[in-house]
Amino acid sequence: MASEQVSHPIFARFFDRFVGRDKDRGEVGLRRELVAGLAGRVAEVGAGNGINFEHFPASVGELVAVEPESRLRRSAGEAARRAPVPTRVVEGVAAELPLGDASLDAVVVAGVLCSVPDQAAALGEFRRVLRPGGELRFYEHVRSRRAGFARFQDRADLVWPRLMGGCHPNRDTAAAIAAAGFRLERYRGFGFPAHARLYPVLPRILGVARNG
Ligand SMILES: C[S@@+](CC[C@H](N)C(=O)[O-])C[C@H]1O[C@@H](n2cnc3c(N)ncnc32)[C@H](O)[C@@H]1O
Repeated sequence: MASEQVSHPIFARFFDRFVGRDKDRGEVGLRRELVAGLAGRVAEVGAGNGINFEHFPASVGELVAVEPESRLRRSAGEAARRAPVPTRVVEGVAAELPLGDASLDAVVVAGVLCSVPDQAAALGEFRRVLRPGGELRFYEHVRSRRAGFARFQDRADLVWPRLMGGCHPNRDTAAAIAAAGFRLERYRGFGFPAHARLYPVLPRILGVARNG
């Protein structure tokens, strides 16, 4: 049982609606790209309702999905039964994963490093469970490089976490990944949804970092 409690029942209740809306806006391709080419033993941390499970390639031999929120974990359990690769859903938090040292080929996160209480602790834990050379795959919204938009994100951060399950719109997640000791192998930045303008979680990054 994780010592850090995550309970966002209202966010969890509306989660399907949020992600369904983004799916309709073309996010499916990004989620496919996130996990394309993965192989071996993989963990998805903060798996939500299991929205990414359907995209994992058959080369993944085992997927361990870690989800702290009880309602979302139940939905993820249902998604796991339909998943194309063997998938096990477990309770846990990013900073305290129920997984052994160097036991994974890859860790996947999507929209999670915005919500963890301590990014450095979570990323340090990802390095612990990854084998040397293992991959961190990430699809995260981040702090804008444009100063004016970043200021808008700082203001939004005063209320956004209370509405959106503890999510902070203004974190420089690529810098945090590098500071944790990962080697940023490749990533790209873009706005999603493409048509949005004043949306605090518009700037996003998607890519791969290596452990060591
Ligand atoms: C915005 S949702 C993203 C869900 C899913 N990964 C996706 O691609 O849509 C954020 C997820 O992070 C989870 N989460 C929040 N705090 C966490 C923590 N400390 N450790 C692990 N997961 C956490 C939430 O329960 C939720 O499932």
